[in-house]
Amino acid sequence: MRRIIIDADTGIDDSIAILYALTSENLHVEGITTCFGNSGAGQSAENSIRLIKLSACGYDVPVVMGAECSLEGEYQSAPKHIHGENGIGNVELPESEQKPLDMAAEDFIIKKADELDGELILVTTGRLTNLAKALMKEPKLPCKIKKVVSMGGCLDTHGNVTPYAEANIYGDPRAADMVLRAGFNMILVGLDVTTKTFITAKELSDLDAYCAEKNRPMADYMQKALKHYFGFHSLTEGMTGCCFVHDPLAVLIAEDASLGEYKMLSLGAEYKSEDFRGMLLRDGRYQSTITHHEVAVCTRVDPARAIRRLFGAFQGK
Ligand code: RIB
Ligand code: CA
Repeated sequence: MRRIIIDADTGIDDSIAILYALTSENLHVEGITTCFGNSGAGQSAENSIRLIKLSACGYDVPVVMGAECSLEGEYQSAPKHIHGENGIGNVELPESEQKPLDMAAEDFIIKKADELDGELILVTTGRLTNLAKALMKEPKLPCKIKKVVSMGGCLDTHGNVTPYAEANIYGDPRAADMVLRAGFNMILVGLDVTTKTFITAKELSDLDAYCAEKNRPMADYMQKALKHYFGFHSLTEGMTGCCFVHDPLAVLIAEDASLGEYKMLSLGAEYKSEDFRGMLLRDGRYQSTITHHEVAVCTRVDPARAIRRLFGAFQGK
């Protein structure tokens, strides 16, 4: 059993990642911390709480609100054209009585890392702001966390905010730079692989046909939210009846790293230049300060296996 915290800006793809993690028999979700991004940190917390209720996972999952802006204090408005007014494709999920814990996300991460004594895996599906703040408070954190798996960045493919930058790194490049250089045992799951993995209308109709009865509420939600997400992909990428798989891939890889192939690289993130903001700096070539620490960058995944595993969980397989 892998014990994970998901640090999310709970939008549509984050929500699928969260539901998968709550359903998988191999994962125990120790908590969800939230960050600004697809919506505000408060809306992300509310979405996460409602998703936990929807999952009926059978155990308590604390939710903690995190950063509302980047380390530099920049507030960015939510991309409503992608994730809808409420971050989850305008789907109205039933309310829950659960409330976010009254503590800072970075304190929760540090506390759990101590409690779990080297067993904690942190999966980040949004900006790295909460983790950077945790690192500033507890510089020994890289030795206390088993692994960090982050959806973010692009190396050999173009970005989705600028030609050079992916949204999670672009949103707080200084936090990303700090985390990438900190010495975590880290896997980066970026656009190089997430834009080669697709959910299609076929998966949605199979999900509808084969999902276990107990998972029906989650399947119904995913149908609606993913249709909204398909709409965005159709408008911006000209993709018909499908979408990229960003955040769920990070959770799948945290659960089973054999889904991917990796290249070890010494990385940083550009945060000084406006033009190249959020670009990954690699191999010492573009790096202003050389770091010798390397992170594992996912360069290839087996998309069919990843998608089978993702939807297999809801079929009760
Ligand atoms: O670039 C894709 C990432 O940005 C995903 O995590 C998506 O949810 C948004 O946060
Ligand atoms: Ca996300």
